[in-house]
Parts: sequence; C-alpha cells; structure tokens
Amino acid sequence: MVVELGLPPWPSMLHDPRHAMPPTLPFWCSFVATVLLLVAALFTGFLRRRRLHLWLGPLTMVLLAITIVLTEELASAYEFPAEVKATHLMFAKAGGLLALPVIATGLWLWRDPRARVWHRVAVLLWLAIVLTATGTGLWMFSQGTLRAG
Ligand code: HEM
Repeated sequence: MVVELGLPPWPSMLHDPRHAMPPTLPFWCSFVATVLLLVAALFTGFLRRRRLHLWLGPLTMVLLAITIVLTEELASAYEFPAEVKATHLMFAKAGGLLALPVIATGLWLWRDPRARVWHRVAVLLWLAIVLTATGTGLWMFSQGTLRAG
C-alpha cells in the first residue's frame, strides 16, 4: 500500500518543490470528513430530519468534491498501470455523473413527497458506485509507484 497515514511535516512541506510527494494529511482529513458526513446524511435522510439533512446532503457533495481534488493532487506524484487506472477512472466518472440524480431528486423531494422512492434509488445507486470507486482507487494506489524527481 503506497498511501500511508504517516504524518508529513505539514504545512511546511506544502509548497516545497524539493518534495515530490504532496502531503497526505489534508487528503486523509478530507476523506474521513467525507465518510462521516455521508453516514450522517444517510441517517438524517432515513430519519426524516429534513432541516439537518438539507445541510448534510449538499455538504457531503462539497466535501466529496474536495476529497477528489486532493486525491488527484496525490495521484499526480505517482505512476499507475494503465489498465488499473482506466478501471478506476470508469467508476470515478460514473460516481461523479450519478451525483447529479441524487441532487436533482433531493431538490424534487423537497417539493414533492412522490420523489421519495426516486431519491432513495438515486442515493443507493450512487453509494454503490462511490464505494466501488473508492475501492478501485485504493487498489490503484497499491499498484502505483512514486515518480522520480
Ligand atoms: C445533495 C442534495 C440533497 C438534497 C437536496 C436532499 C434532499 C432530501 C429531502 C428533502 C429528503 C426528505 C427528508 C424528509 O422526509 O423530511 C431526503 C431524504 C433522504 N436523503 Fe437526501 N438530499 C440530498 C442529498 C443526499 C445524500 C448525499 C444522501 C446520502 C448520503 C441522501 C440520502 C437520503 C436518504 C437515505 C433519504 C431518505 C429517503 C427515504 O425516505 O427513503 N440525500 N433528501
């Protein structure tokens, strides 16, 4: 496993060009915050805590986007086998695309209770793909090698 939880001397290394590998601490913080928010959004949705859910649902999407940006920053320091990367990218792109129906059906459900089943289906589909993308992403990093330089 190439991505490790080892604490880099952050933030001093953050913009130091002598270090090829971006710091991993911001990535892990963002990753953990995304998972926690996602679970909280799921719970508040199922428990029908609408006011709270309307904060947590969109916040989950924002944190996920930040995590993806930080992952790409980390990934730029590595080289990955082409077919492993292609597999991961397929799921990652599908996950990005399937976030749109979650948002659309969420907004619809806000106005119309008949959208409930559609929001639920969109959320479960999106979750399945996001979990697969996370799994294939970790697999990709396990196959990666740090670029020289
Ligand atoms: C991004 C914008 C989102 C909006 C606008 C939104 C909106 C809503 C609304 C209005 C409800 C109904 C709550 C109630 O009954 O009072 C709901 C339910 C729910 N939401 Fe979201 N949501 C969003 C994102 C998410 C996300 C990211 C997740 C999952 C992590 C999620 C999971 C759920 C679940 C599981 C329910 C319950 C569905 C059911 O009763 O079967 N939502 N959402």
